[in-house]
Amino acid sequence: MKPVKIGLLGLGTVGGGTVNVLQRNSEEIARRAGRPIEVVHAAVRSLGRERICDTQGILLTEDPFEVVRNPELDLVVELIGGCGLAKELVLEAISLGKHVVTANKALIAECGNEIFAAAEKKGVSIFYEAGVAGGIPIIKALREGLSANRIEWLAGIINGTGNFILSEMRDKGREFSDVLKEAQELGYAEADPTFDVEGIDAAHKLTILASIAYGIPLKFDKVYTEGISKITPQDVIYAGELGYVIKHLGIARRSQAGIEMRVHPTLVPASNMLGKVDGVMNAVMVNGDAVGNTFYYGPGAGAEPTASAVLADVIDLVRSLEGLAAHRVAHTGFAADQLGEDNLLSI
Ligand code: NDP
Ligand code: HSE
Repeated sequence: MKPVKIGLLGLGTVGGGTVNVLQRNSEEIARRAGRPIEVVHAAVRSLGRERICDTQGILLTEDPFEVVRNPELDLVVELIGGCGLAKELVLEAISLGKHVVTANKALIAECGNEIFAAAEKKGVSIFYEAGVAGGIPIIKALREGLSANRIEWLAGIINGTGNFILSEMRDKGREFSDVLKEAQELGYAEADPTFDVEGIDAAHKLTILASIAYGIPLKFDKVYTEGISKITPQDVIYAGELGYVIKHLGIARRSQAGIEMRVHPTLVPASNMLGKVDGVMNAVMVNGDAVGNTFYYGPGAGAEPTASAVLADVIDLVRSLEGLAAHRVAHTGFAADQLGEDNLLSI
């Protein structure tokens, strides 16, 4: 079957992880998408930089507009970050009728209203699952799984770098700056790490979650935002002595006065589920009037967890372009082809 050709804008931590997962799981992905998917073109800032993925078969360029304008491509995946060049590229892709997948929460939170309007006009889709909580499919959960609910509140640890720093300070007595440096080396932190430690990244993510949960426009400027940079090792120790942990939470809830959105360090009882979320892990609790409390947990940053979410969006898009029914992909399209009934174990 003819492959769907895609282009990547950016081949760093997330772009490299995306190529690796796509190459490793190509057969499963092709079955689930209904067609094979191939990265054929990718833009980078520097062609000379060492990559975490095999780039054989991928045409590399330092001009990202070359990728966006490649007429062979059905969709582009924006993994550069920020609201400058990334916005220009995404708007150009939309104007050319291309669907877009992005992991860029800053772009969606700050320019999403404009981008979605442009996409509506052109009849193309914008997917951004990887933008919130890394590998946790929280956007799909809110948009699809909980779509019959009136969402009362949601609260979560939605920045992996910040949670990694707080956990290491508490468990190993490490210095803030030392752990931040490690988070950068591991590829967890934003290009400008003040976004992580001052709560801006979490505010971007909360803006997106609240917009979906409450059906409101994206309102990043309405989020009360406080980071973790003033938390000292002593604060962490005192909290522990009182039976609490300090967690950096993003909270959105309905109130009499309207929708409240806030991001700040919070004392969470050590026995609470959110209190047990450590390291780069993220978690989001969502309360819906029909379902009650639900909890979503998983890696909040890193190459392959984020690639997992990027590729889920790519697969979703390809599947919808192919007009495949949900059962065809979940059941008949996958299990029967790969395993066959004869290979089921009898226990
Ligand atoms: P990286 O810095 O690792 O990668 C950015 C990529 O963009 C690099 O390949 C870089 O090229 C390329 N690039 C930068 N400027 C240009 C330019 N002018 N022209 C062409 N290419 C350019 O970032 P990440 O992969 O970590 O993040 C990408 C996006 O994903 C961001 O929006 C981030 O917020 C988001 N995200 C990141 C997560 C993570 O865990 N890292 C998790 C969830 C979302 P070169 O390699 O040559 O420098
Ligand atoms: N810098 C972000 C974090 C990446 O640490 O959570 C994932 O969005």
